[in-house]
Amino acid sequence: MASVTSLASTVDQRIADALSAALPEAGPASPLLRRSDRADFQANGLLALAKQLKGNPRELAARVVTSLPADDVIKEIEVSGPGFLNITITDRAIIETLAARAADARLGVPYEPDPGTTVVDYAQPNVAKEMHVGHLRSAVIGAAMVEILEFTGEKVVRRHHIGDWGTQFGMLIQYLIEHPHELDHKGAATSGEEAMSSLNRLYKASRTLFDSDPEFKARARDRVVHLQAGDKETLALWQRFVDESKIYFYSVFNQLDMEIRDPDIVGESGYNDMLEETCRILEESGVAVRSEGALCVFFDDVKGPDGNKVPLIVKKSNGGYGYAATDLSAIRDRVRNLSATTLLYVVDARQSLHFKMVFETARRAGWLNDEVHAVQLAFGTVLGKDGKPFKTREGETVRLVDLLDEAVERATAVVREKAKDLSEDEIAERGSQVGIGAVKYADLSTSAARDYKFDLDQMVSLNGDTSVYIQYAYARIQSILRKAGDAKPAAHPELDLAPAERALGLHVDQFGEVLAEVASAYEPHKLAAYLYQLASHFTTFYDQCHVLSDDNPAELVENRLFLCDITARTLHQGLALLGIRAPERL
Ligand code: ARG
Repeated sequence: MASVTSLASTVDQRIADALSAALPEAGPASPLLRRSDRADFQANGLLALAKQLKGNPRELAARVVTSLPADDVIKEIEVSGPGFLNITITDRAIIETLAARAADARLGVPYEPDPGTTVVDYAQPNVAKEMHVGHLRSAVIGAAMVEILEFTGEKVVRRHHIGDWGTQFGMLIQYLIEHPHELDHKGAATSGEEAMSSLNRLYKASRTLFDSDPEFKARARDRVVHLQAGDKETLALWQRFVDESKIYFYSVFNQLDMEIRDPDIVGESGYNDMLEETCRILEESGVAVRSEGALCVFFDDVKGPDGNKVPLIVKKSNGGYGYAATDLSAIRDRVRNLSATTLLYVVDARQSLHFKMVFETARRAGWLNDEVHAVQLAFGTVLGKDGKPFKTREGETVRLVDLLDEAVERATAVVREKAKDLSEDEIAERGSQVGIGAVKYADLSTSAARDYKFDLDQMVSLNGDTSVYIQYAYARIQSILRKAGDAKPAAHPELDLAPAERALGLHVDQFGEVLAEVASAYEPHKLAAYLYQLASHFTTFYDQCHVLSDDNPAELVENRLFLCDITARTLHQGLALLGIRAPERL
């Protein structure tokens, strides 16, 4: 496994060296290199430098050009505009760099030099409740971040902070005690659908009783006390709700083609034993104070409409613990027992104030500090086609399973229409890979913070910024490679490249840099954009450069097959990091 230096960083380094040779008085300065339409790269760094040195930027640029030694990477360099450097690199360097990438299983992408441990909190549905599109976002974005971080060498611990604790369980358990056959199936629940429908029924029935019968309400409240005190019988019934819900969760995650492992599910209940201690530490250190009977943390910049400070309540006046106490305990656990250096929370932006207060509290308590920091990767709301939060016509939240079913159905129709030599089974399999991929891609391709419209027609379209377009590019390459027969991909650095070949090659070479940026800024949408551009570059290349033409000399065929192959491998790897399949045939 050898990591490969990208052409961008090779050029950047050479220009930086020439810069300090030509202008020693400038000290170390960045050439500020970027891809450009005019040449392959453009360096803008001399403008700021000229200002600093009070010189003429074009003149300084000319001096840098003169002190740049001739080499086999930079073919041409010229001064343009107010003092930019336009750099063209050799065809040979492009193919040689890609050949080095092709020889490596990781496509030459380097590991982070100084990895840490990130605990990713994502895919956190709630027990006895239906999953909705919000849970989809957390799961999809979180899973992509897990894969991307792991790929860069970060140690990742996954945590599914499911909602499995709280007062509603008193109501549910009490109802089950009084209606013992409600969760019975003929044996265990056989499907997620069945599990969820009995949970739903039970939830509704117990809620109705709770709201209408004061005596039941009192018994339900007592039940919460038993639950929190760890009463055996109560806990056993609670466990049945959790187990039943997990059958449902797993079925949804399975449909989402997402691997969730049982040991990584540590729900709110998992921190129950720490709550008291967490509160004691906060109170004794003075981070939290008593206010109207509750244990609270105050912040100068968090105020209600009346101008009074709104506290984070860690313990209610009735002695109960809430969401905040659990999250604070989870932070202690993740820092102390999991040795986290970063805590990443993939949670709805509507919980941002909660996390802001929780993180600040944890900093005051010393649990977070310069070595350990916490970030919320906050995501926006999923909107319907009308631009309003996604609801059914009856005004209810849309069930995630219904959405996924519909996506797969639409995608299957698209696959069927295009399919030439696919069997029914293959159509069904591709339909689900394309449909689920489309849902994930739509979610990942806009920046997480923004709201987006859930528009299935657009998502499964073959044209435009969709996963289907990328999957088709991949499948087309595989079809070319199959058709090539005895001709095998092989790099030929001695050949001259066509413009579309250069553009494709240079884009492939950027993969590692894009990944590094995506990993450090938690921005998976930039990987999605990169892959879409890569597929577009491939489409242009395929239009302009015949690969398997009889008129082509053998070396040209091999070199073009080589470009096809490394493009396919990059697409495949990139899609895999986003949790999207790349079928070999479509
Ligand atoms: N279960 C919560 C919900 O459905 C999300 C949990 C987020 N994670 C956390 N550590 N608070 O909204």
